[in-house]
Amino acid sequence: MLSPLHQVAPKTFSNYIEPFFGGGALFFSLNPSRALIADSNPELVNLYTSVRDNVAKVLRFLEPFENDEDLFYQVRALDYTNLEPEHAAARTIFLNRTCFNGLYRVNKSGGFNVPFGRYKNPNIFPKENLIAASAALQNARILLGDYKDILRENAEPNDFIFLDPPYLPVSEYADFKRYTKEQFYEEDQVELAEEVERLHKMGCHVVLTNSNHPLVHDLYDKYEIKVHKTKRNISSKAKTRTGEDVIVVAKPYKKIFLREVPKPTSGQTLLYPSTRYMGSKEKLIPYIQDVLSNFEFDSALDLFSGSGVVGYLMKSLGKKVITNDYMAMSSTFSKAMIENNGRKLSAEKLDQLFERQNNTDCFVEDTFSGLYYTDEENRVIDTVRWNAKQITNPYERSIAMSALIRACLKKRARGIFTYTGLRYDDGRADLKMSMEDQIRNATKLINGAVFSNGQKNRSLNSDAMSIRTKADLVYLDPPYFSPLSDNEYVRRYHFVEGLAKGWSEVDMQWHTKTKKFKSYPTPFSSRSGAYDAFNKLFYKFRDSIILVSYSSNSLPSREEMLSLLAKHKRQVDVIDIDYRYSFANQGNKGSNIKNEVKEYLFIGY
Ligand SMILES: C[S@@+](CC[C@H](N)C(=O)[O-])C[C@H]1O[C@@H](n2cnc3c(N)ncnc32)[C@H](O)[C@@H]1O
Repeated sequence: MLSPLHQVAPKTFSNYIEPFFGGGALFFSLNPSRALIADSNPELVNLYTSVRDNVAKVLRFLEPFENDEDLFYQVRALDYTNLEPEHAAARTIFLNRTCFNGLYRVNKSGGFNVPFGRYKNPNIFPKENLIAASAALQNARILLGDYKDILRENAEPNDFIFLDPPYLPVSEYADFKRYTKEQFYEEDQVELAEEVERLHKMGCHVVLTNSNHPLVHDLYDKYEIKVHKTKRNISSKAKTRTGEDVIVVAKPYKKIFLREVPKPTSGQTLLYPSTRYMGSKEKLIPYIQDVLSNFEFDSALDLFSGSGVVGYLMKSLGKKVITNDYMAMSSTFSKAMIENNGRKLSAEKLDQLFERQNNTDCFVEDTFSGLYYTDEENRVIDTVRWNAKQITNPYERSIAMSALIRACLKKRARGIFTYTGLRYDDGRADLKMSMEDQIRNATKLINGAVFSNGQKNRSLNSDAMSIRTKADLVYLDPPYFSPLSDNEYVRRYHFVEGLAKGWSEVDMQWHTKTKKFKSYPTPFSSRSGAYDAFNKLFYKFRDSIILVSYSSNSLPSREEMLSLLAKHKRQVDVIDIDYRYSFANQGNKGSNIKNEVKEYLFIGY
């Protein structure tokens, strides 16, 4: 059972507590730096205390013992409470090593009553083991007592508590519960489950083992239960030795902690060049960071990465990041600044971007003439995209393309391509700056955001529904579905998405005024599609911490989202963020009415 137990042990914790210590196999293999171990069996507690405090003396008492039946019964008859502690400890070891099947069983008055084992060559003098055990025990407090008292007096949030109680018998003959003279009945199992609940609520990480008995499943059904085949050493009949045991894992219950005023974004995260992008979470970064700080995770998947700002936050936090978006422009951003751990675009290569080649195709000049930019600007766009295509290093190429895309977004009023001409031109500095200066400026910012976090990060460009990658934490920020407005990214950003894809593999709608292409299909464009997609994604990532961004004017509603998530995750929480969109209401152009929309962060773990 050790290897599955290691798998469910928390990576970090304050104190290790094991109140049904017995042989303490997990303690000895984990070797925790701070531990409290306890048992209600005074003989066992004396054994570990003596081994910890004076192993040399225990060894001196142990050495003369021999595997002899008469000696066994003589020693068994001794009342250990009359012996020196180290002598009593040596007696316990001797009896355990020579008795039948290594059993521990006592009679009503607490006397050891297992018969002699008749083994050929038992190891009565495990000197090295005892010395190693003594070393491991140096960091442990050892207490005698009932598990409930031990836990009530000592357990604290963030402790790792391992409970290996007397198991529920799986058949009427398999009686493993007579560990001490007090028996462990069904009522005790119920009481133990109540204690597990208390510890879990308090914020402890609890792992419990027991037999694969229906009552165990009833008592612990709200936690994770893993069934394992085991070889149990206690039963004498070989054929009943294999059984099934369960491991119950109750991860600490968390009240998600959020500061009233979140810490402002700082350090590396601030270096991400801000891009105006529909649904960008740039303003929510401090809240997202606050929520993330409640969890331990090594890898993160930003499944709908958009501008890439959340993926970049996670990269800044040192995580191994995988980003995905079905828009090529999004994955170009994250290739340049998240996957890329060091390549920058040199000043020389930047200059070369503006050198016109004879063979430049004039796709933008020809197709979009008079629509979004001046002829001269279109010429710069064609020159740069043609030269960027020739760059062989994928990271340098993605920097050049990200810079071009960013420049095009900046030089467009409202940053979108659903209208043509110069409507909405409010004379902002960004619109006045030349296309070339915008591209140079963007390159500087993107180069400045490139850094290594020591991880192998990846930028993917697929449909979220078909992604197979797993991660410890998955962030889901899909398009918000609302019956009142459309959420089509491709329609808004077709021009820059076309740039990123070189207009290849897109279905051009030549008849349209905007010269857009057909949107990619996504389940988030209909109500039932969105419900179904959330359900599928929550199921797919049921083993990860799931963080979802959604807003109050979208469907599924807050309550629906909570119950969808609760179908797949044990603990579900939501954080409401009062957040006023900075964009004016579309129907009220020029007025100051702001959308009062709440942003939600749902967390399932
Ligand atoms: C709300 S935005 C994400 C914003 C991002 N978190 C940010 O901070 O910039 C939603 C993203 O989902 C992408 N998307 C929509 N449907 C998708 C699908 N089926 N697979 C992958 N990405 C999709 C869109 O391209 C868009 O970038």
